[in-house]
Amino acid sequence: MDWDRELADQRQQLELADQAHLLRFWDELNEAERAELLGDLSGCNFSEIMQFFHRAMQMPAPLEQQMDEQMEPVPREVQGSVTRDRERLPEWEAEGLLQISENKVAVLLLAGGQGTRLGVAYPKGMYNVGLLSRKTLFQIQAERILKLQQLASEQFGNKCTIPWYIMTSGRTMESTEEFFAKNSYFGLQEGNVIFFQQGMLPAMTFNGKAILEGKSKISMAPDGNGGLYRALRNQKIVEDMEKRGIGFIHVYCVDNILVKVADPTFIGFCVKQQADCGAKVVEKTNPTEAVGVVCKVNGLYQVVEYSEITLVTAQKRNADGRLTFNAGNICNHFFTLKFLKNIVKDYEPKLRHHVAQKKIPYIDDHGQHIKPDSPNGIKLEKFVFDIFQFSKKFVVFEVLREDEFSPLKNADSQNGKDTPTTARHALMSLHHRWVLNAGGNFVDENRTRIPAIPSLKELTDVPIKCEISALVSYAGEGLDKYVSGRDFQPPLIIDEKGVRELTANGL
Ligand code: UD1
Repeated sequence: MDWDRELADQRQQLELADQAHLLRFWDELNEAERAELLGDLSGCNFSEIMQFFHRAMQMPAPLEQQMDEQMEPVPREVQGSVTRDRERLPEWEAEGLLQISENKVAVLLLAGGQGTRLGVAYPKGMYNVGLLSRKTLFQIQAERILKLQQLASEQFGNKCTIPWYIMTSGRTMESTEEFFAKNSYFGLQEGNVIFFQQGMLPAMTFNGKAILEGKSKISMAPDGNGGLYRALRNQKIVEDMEKRGIGFIHVYCVDNILVKVADPTFIGFCVKQQADCGAKVVEKTNPTEAVGVVCKVNGLYQVVEYSEITLVTAQKRNADGRLTFNAGNICNHFFTLKFLKNIVKDYEPKLRHHVAQKKIPYIDDHGQHIKPDSPNGIKLEKFVFDIFQFSKKFVVFEVLREDEFSPLKNADSQNGKDTPTTARHALMSLHHRWVLNAGGNFVDENRTRIPAIPSLKELTDVPIKCEISALVSYAGEGLDKYVSGRDFQPPLIIDEKGVRELTANGL
């Protein structure tokens, strides 16, 4: 193949952007490698990337100390809570279900991350945390959507659809799509599962040179979960939502096994408050927990990430002993389509990228692969919550951690937090409580009742093995007819096939 023309074009552009070093191994590359490098290069608009880089580096992120001084907690008047506002929950839930029944609600999954901490080479949504059913996170979420469609349809007599928009990245697109096709979209209609891809950006050295990870490969990474807005624009997703008559969107991240996808109570709360933007939070109780906090900075709503807050501020407490900054972000957001349209059109381009210093493997001038011990470059990322500041009416909805938040971040072999084991236990423990609340009980092999709250002697970290398919119950409703007045010996599974006590080794 004659590369001359293409190479000359690329070289000129790279020289203009001071990136000609990316071609320094060109003469050593074979045909396939040349094609690979040109492919990478054609995906990079370096004049734009250099603007991002300079803008991000020019204004250093506010020093932690300064940021802390400007932080204020979320005022009570914009908050709803599943505990403090218990009497209003049925009204909010009914509103959410009504909106769902009228086909006005869509869900949008952020699934473009690389799952680096979990250490798997495939998308996190495909992970099986070892439930009795062996279901993956994607399947659990799909079944919650199916169930909600059914609940809303039954309640209002309209057959309805919750379209599922799934944002992937260059790293996760193909395998995600294949996985869904192979699993027949988990019972959803193929046309209502819409995949789109976020952008990627090259990792850069501190002085603005894109990094080569191999002789023919640029080190690329997704542009952060805030890459969502640009992707929505470039891939005309907002237009698709408009065509379907969507009014409200629930955006959430892939790794929370307890996520209430399209939660009608959250949606109903936001709609009733006439909010254009909302965030679901859990109470942060441990100052060093790795969750961002929703708060105001300089009078504007935003999330201050766990990496940005000082310990002194994170540890601040109110007179009642609770943390002052306790609105723990669980990456569950509500947007009206109108707000999203304004963001995509006007506001997103004004946001500068966050700079994350990283240890980025690279190839040196002698062609040696190097794994640095200390940060040698940066990744540029936008965050999904960067746009809270543009909201005209922002609200916060506090939910219970044990019911709604157990993220999968780390592998079991690492520290014991946010692992497949903790995720599995959180789901089983929630389902155990659903059974008890619906009037069922658990017994041991001698048919002796297992107390709901084990005594200290029996206390182990292992919950009762119990799993209820979302196809049977979305949030614990409708279980009486299966469990009321009955004793079960775990492991117990309740799914579309019925109620089954399993042998110890599963299905
Ligand atoms: C995120 C939140 C943090 C919150 C925590 C709760 C952000 C920026 N931070 O942190 O405030 O307390 O979850 O669990 O939202 N993703 C993409 N594209 C990317 C990068 C990530 O789609 O380029 C997706 C991931 O697939 C995941 C979600 O965004 O679904 C969150 O990403 P992750 O990197 O896990 O964020 P955390 O640091 O855990």
